[in-house]
Amino acid sequence: TGRKAYRGEVLHFLADPAKVSEEESYQYFEDGLLVINHGLVEAVGNAKDLLKTLPADVVVTQYDNGLIMPGFIDTHVHYAQSEMVASYGEQLLEWLENYTFPEEKKFADLEHGKRVAEFFLSQLLDAGTTTALVFGTVHKESVEAFFTVAQQKKLRMICGKVLMNQNCPDDLSDTVESGYADSKALIEKWHNTDRLQYAVTPRFAPTCSTEQLNKAGELLKEYPSVYLHTHLSENKDEIAWVSELFPDSDGYLDVYDKSSLLGRRSVFAHGVHLHDHECQRLSETNSAIAFCPTSNLFLGSGCFNLKQAEEFDVNVGLGTDIGAGSSFSMLTTLNEGYKTQQLRGDKLSPYKSLYLATLGGAIALDLEGTIGNFIQGAEADFIVLDYQATPLMDVRIKRCTTLTEKLFVLSMLGDDRHVKATHIMGEKV
Ligand code: GUN
Ligand code: FE
Repeated sequence: TGRKAYRGEVLHFLADPAKVSEEESYQYFEDGLLVINHGLVEAVGNAKDLLKTLPADVVVTQYDNGLIMPGFIDTHVHYAQSEMVASYGEQLLEWLENYTFPEEKKFADLEHGKRVAEFFLSQLLDAGTTTALVFGTVHKESVEAFFTVAQQKKLRMICGKVLMNQNCPDDLSDTVESGYADSKALIEKWHNTDRLQYAVTPRFAPTCSTEQLNKAGELLKEYPSVYLHTHLSENKDEIAWVSELFPDSDGYLDVYDKSSLLGRRSVFAHGVHLHDHECQRLSETNSAIAFCPTSNLFLGSGCFNLKQAEEFDVNVGLGTDIGAGSSFSMLTTLNEGYKTQQLRGDKLSPYKSLYLATLGGAIALDLEGTIGNFIQGAEADFIVLDYQATPLMDVRIKRCTTLTEKLFVLSMLGDDRHVKATHIMGEKV
């Protein structure tokens, strides 16, 4: 049969812990069972109860001293920046000039793109990340390479070709027309092919003319199920530059709003310095923010105001933002996320953290019910964490007396070493 089951400690989320009570936000089974049928979740619950309902010949794999969770969802990452992580000494705009643009030039070559995509996706899977919203480069070949490799691995991935036609090197520049035509061709070829989806990807307002942003809006009208993926209000110098470049706009978000780029499938990376009226607008359009703490610390951009996003009911996912981010691991990202909130004087609970890394990401990507938790019919992309993979985690977990404490320790001390197995559509990779 197509049925398989996994037994062990199981945790998944049903709602945002900040919206319902913490206890109502998750399901936790100390001795749980996850039942998979033909790559989809059939059931989750207490092992002893569920096993009675299953035919005796279903193979049950047992995982001890660990936690079975939905795969992590990285809502903002640049695959082409995989090999330039930890580039020294600059904040955003100089970092782009000195390191990022030269690196991205290499992706005119399809074979280079495929090699880096292989590396990137194996790093993601090792870290327990099963879905990501991914920036390509300006070259259509970069997206061709990425989707080709992601398709071979049967992954649910979203990617797009960067649109940028100003304030960047000439050999990294497209035009309003070529950006539109290349995006359209990629959408026609790849969007909704297997588990792949396309994101229209203007780099950020400074590198796009108003005409190019308007053309991106036209693509969204022509293809209502594609995503919009860009950067927003990351760095103070960047924000000042945007107000010089777009004097007629009422702030950074409004530049995108005027080109009709906000909506249910729009994801804006960072949003570190947002005004209340911008949060209000993100909320009423159902747009999402990707919270990227390792990147915000690494580039010295600032500490994201999660409390403000909660007050305005803005969808938030978590992102690594590799290569400005410093780790592929969403657990490491949670560790630094916690510290950014401490610096603000706010508490980030482990429930909210692990929610952001899973169901919160799925909601930000408008994929609730498809990925992010173990509700019936969801795609069975899941991971097994191992508390005993490192001595420190092992001793620390053993003295935990509550689930809250245990999940907090996991979110602080966890990294890719604690990911024992990653399963895609039920199959271990
Ligand atoms: N803003 C525009 N491009 C980028 C990029 O590549 N990385 C980050 N972190 N911010 C950006
Ligand atoms: Fe980024």
